Amino acid sequence: MADQANRLREQVMRRIKPESSVRKTKVIAVTSGKGGVGKSNVSLNFALSLVALDKKVMIFDLDVGMANIDVLMGVSPKENLISMLEKNLSLEAVIETGVNGLQYIAGGNGIGKILNLSGDQLNHFFNEFGSLQGKVDYIILDTGAGLTDEGVRFLQAADDVFLVINPEPPSITDAYGVLKALHVRNTQLPVKLIVNRAISSQEAERTAGNFQKASEQFLQKSIDMLGWIPDDGTVRKAVIAQSPYLLEYPNSKASIAVHKLVRTYLEIPSSYKLGVKGFLTKMLFHK
Ligand SMILES: Nc1ncnc2c1ncn2[C@@H]1O[C@H](COP(=O)(O)OP(=O)(O)O)[C@@H](O)[C@H]1O
Ligand SMILES: [Mg+2]
Repeated sequence: MADQANRLREQVMRRIKPESSVRKTKVIAVTSGKGGVGKSNVSLNFALSLVALDKKVMIFDLDVGMANIDVLMGVSPKENLISMLEKNLSLEAVIETGVNGLQYIAGGNGIGKILNLSGDQLNHFFNEFGSLQGKVDYIILDTGAGLTDEGVRFLQAADDVFLVINPEPPSITDAYGVLKALHVRNTQLPVKLIVNRAISSQEAERTAGNFQKASEQFLQKSIDMLGWIPDDGTVRKAVIAQSPYLLEYPNSKASIAVHKLVRTYLEIPSSYKLGVKGFLTKMLFHK
């Protein structure tokens, strides 16, 4: 049985276009230690800032319990990744086009099932997900907080992991737990810190500094801070208006910070693992 499943996976993998013939599709996973630190807002506004630079971006809502990218954008998806598998739908059928052409896919309940697919469903998932190779520049995964088995699998398969923290100590200690769990699996994982809701650059630096110190001391891992986003009242107002702050309040401090974050990200050399193909391989073959 296991052999048969492996052969099937290999067949499907061969059908995914090699990355050299198409544009590189990078996968970024956004995570945090605890919920409510601003992952979904960071994911969505970061994605929209990339879109403003003419990048094609697809955002994936994998935060099952608290799925809310759709709510933040004011859209209501009819289908999701799980219904795609259950009803044998094409990926096209489950992609929502959100604001400014941002593409969006809801994960749906039971996203962990993806790790246990077999036979036809696996074949279907690979074909559909693999078809994204070269179609978009970035796939952004808004993952759940903390550590579930499937969450870790998504994270360790991504090209880049953004770890969102707040200045409050519980967010930092929980995020450290996530980092440690990832580090145990892969010491080379490119994790980048984003400090959200800092009241000043000093506070952001201090927060990141404390985290970096702990990581260097206990894990011998150095982590870069990608940037920080200020605590800004317009974020809450935009959430209530169900419109991303980058669009609702383009000149707000938070929006300016997100654009800066994206510019920094695009300037640094970042890792790349063969795009969608690399992502699928890592996610499904590496336990
Ligand atoms: N930069 C910010 N400034 C002020 N409030 C923020 C900021 N980022 C997030 N928030 C608040 O935190 C809430 C939770 O954010 P959300 O992105 O849903 O977190 P998560 O996805 O991590 O659970 C938002 O509804 C908003 O009120
Ligand atoms: Mg969220």
